[in-house]
Amino acid sequence: MESSINPFTPSFGKVPPILAGRKILIGEFEQAFSLNPNDPNLCSLFSGPRGVGKTVLMSHLARKAEASGWISANVTARPGMLEDILERTMDAANELIERPSFKRLTSVSISSLFSASWEYRNSDSGNWRTRMSRILDVLAEYSIGLLITIDEIDPNLEELIDFSATFQHFVREDRKVALFMAGLPVNVSALLSDKSVSFLRRAAQHQLGRIEDADITDAFRETIEEAGKSIGDDALSLAAEATGGFAYMMQLVGFRTWIEAEDSSVIEVTHVERGAELARRDFVNGIIKKTLQDLSDGDIAFLEAMLPDKGHPSLMNDIAERMGKTPNYARVYRTRLVEQGLISAPRRGFVEFEMPLLREYLMEN
Ligand SMILES: Nc1ncnc2c1ncn2[C@@H]1O[C@H](COP(=O)(O)OP(=O)(O)OP(=O)(O)O)[C@@H](O)[C@H]1O
Ligand SMILES: [Mg+2]
Repeated sequence: MESSINPFTPSFGKVPPILAGRKILIGEFEQAFSLNPNDPNLCSLFSGPRGVGKTVLMSHLARKAEASGWISANVTARPGMLEDILERTMDAANELIERPSFKRLTSVSISSLFSASWEYRNSDSGNWRTRMSRILDVLAEYSIGLLITIDEIDPNLEELIDFSATFQHFVREDRKVALFMAGLPVNVSALLSDKSVSFLRRAAQHQLGRIEDADITDAFRETIEEAGKSIGDDALSLAAEATGGFAYMMQLVGFRTWIEAEDSSVIEVTHVERGAELARRDFVNGIIKKTLQDLSDGDIAFLEAMLPDKGHPSLMNDIAERMGKTPNYARVYRTRLVEQGLISAPRRGFVEFEMPLLREYLMEN
């Protein structure tokens, strides 16, 4: 059989051909873009562990916004971010007015609108807020909204704090603006604790986590079939199980399995078994090791104190005892780890591992 292109996308920030899950959330945002300029979701913070799908979700939502009369400026939080937002906004505006569908809508020729871009680009013509306001004025004449997405937020970046303070004015001035920010939970909560960005505390907060089994299964099947192969039910459920409901792991399992099934039009259980094994290794190297590097000794001691329960939920009191600490001490770490999406609380007084393969890795090392 002719080999077809591997449809899985195990690389960071890469939007997969079929997005698993997140349907309700995406639906809410589509409504917000098309119906309600005051929808609280238009100022949203996305947080979750590495590889959970934050960047991809923001890119996907930006595309949805673009389909509803918005333009988007997508940047990463790093020095130069403010200028980058200006440039990306100009680019997006210029691209929009060049679209045939937009040209048809407007009777006047507006191609000249952004051609005097030096006015916006040159800092002699006003500070950042002034120059942005000028662009927003023009966009407003055509009811075009501006969505700004800021990825990998860094609470120590001064520009991010300045930006947030200024953005608040755009909102107060009733401009058609939206803001999405995404980052690791520790960074999001550190940013929120900064006094000068208190308005961000009222933003809608979305903690991204596991994707439902059924959604993973559907996405697997669709991705595979659209790319020209098929998969039996047993192989499919084995593949879904191997992902642990984790977005990046789904792409790894799919990618590796596809290679195993290169010469066959049907993906079999044996392909998935080998693919999943390789995917586990990739996941440990790409995610688990990096995640553990970010943790404190106390965090790790807490996770290790969960190991004797062998994957069953651990009682908080047992964990405290195994750590040789008071329950109050253990609770501090519990909160931090839950916030980071590494463990979850299935019921009161208990915790269990949330991130796939974290437990297995700690057992072996
Ligand atoms: N809903 C989804 N369904 C299927 N695959 C997804 C989904 N979301 C993300 N992915 C895949 O998961 C991987 C990680 O996604 P992404 O880069 O968005 O993660 P992230 O949360 O931004 O990670 P980081 O914190 O490291 O930036 C990518 O390979 C992407 O293709
Ligand atoms: Mg990302």
